Amino acid sequence: MPVPMIPLDFRRHDPNEQVERADRFYEEMQRRRSVRSFSDEPVPRHLIEQAIRTASTAPSGAHRQPWTFVVTEDPQLKRQIREAAEEEERINYEGGRLPQHWRDALEPLGTDWHKEFLEAVPWIVVLFEQRYGLGTTGERVHHFYVKESCGIAAGVFITALHHMGLATLTHTPSPMRFLTDLLGRPRSERPFCMFPIGYPAEDCMVPDLRRKSLDEVMVLAGAT
Ligand SMILES: Cc1cc2nc3c(=O)[nH]c(=O)nc-3n(C[C@H](O)[C@H](O)[C@H](O)COP(=O)(O)O)c2cc1C
Repeated sequence: MPVPMIPLDFRRHDPNEQVERADRFYEEMQRRRSVRSFSDEPVPRHLIEQAIRTASTAPSGAHRQPWTFVVTEDPQLKRQIREAAEEEERINYEGGRLPQHWRDALEPLGTDWHKEFLEAVPWIVVLFEQRYGLGTTGERVHHFYVKESCGIAAGVFITALHHMGLATLTHTPSPMRFLTDLLGRPRSERPFCMFPIGYPAEDCMVPDLRRKSLDEVMVLAGAT
C-alpha cells in the first residue's frame, strides 16, 4: 500500500551561509573524540532520549529502521555489563584470542581489558540490530541492509551526542552475546555496538591520533 506523498520540508541556505555552516560543523566534528575516562556527573534522561530520536532519523533499508536502543542507568546492571565485558576483553587481550596484528593495531591506543568507565558513566546505551522484524502475529518481517542501516544510525547517534556536549565511546567488547542475555533481548536481535555516555573525567586524556587528510580519503573521478 503506497503511503501518501507530502511536500518536502527542505531548508535552503544562501551560499555564504552554506559555507559557514559547513566549516562550523566540520570544526565541531573534528573535536569529537572517543572517551574512555568519564566522570559520574549525571546526565538528564531527556538528552539520551533526544539522541536516540535523532539516531532514529537515519535512513534505513526499505525504511525498516532495524534498530533497538537499550538504555540503562541501573548501577547493578552497569556493574554486570562491566564484569561481563571485562571477562571477554581479558580473554581478548591476555588470553590470546586477539590475533597479533589486531593487538599491534590497538597498541598505540593504549587500551586494555579494564573497563572501569562502564560503571562510572551515568548511562549505557546498547544498539541492537534487528536481524528480522516481528509482525503483529509473530511472523518474521524481512529487514534489508541491517548492518549498513545500524552503522548509519550509530553515526547519527554519536554525532547527536557530541553536538549536545556529551562524550561517548563506540565500544565492541566482542563477543557481545552477553549483552543479549543481560538485557533480555529476543533472538531476532544481535548487539551491534555499546555506548557508555557521560561527561569526560576532568583529567581525561586521549591518544594523539592523526586523521587522514582529504587527499587521502577523497578521489575525484571523471571530468570537472
Ligand atoms: C566499530 C567500532 C568499534 C570500536 N570498538 C572499540 C572498543 O571496543 N574499544 C575501544 O576502546 N574503542 C573502540 N572503538 C573506538 C576507536 O578505537 C576510535 O574510534 C579510533 O581509535 C579513533 O579515535 P576517535 O574516535 O577519538 O577519533 C571502536 C570504533 C568503532 C568505529
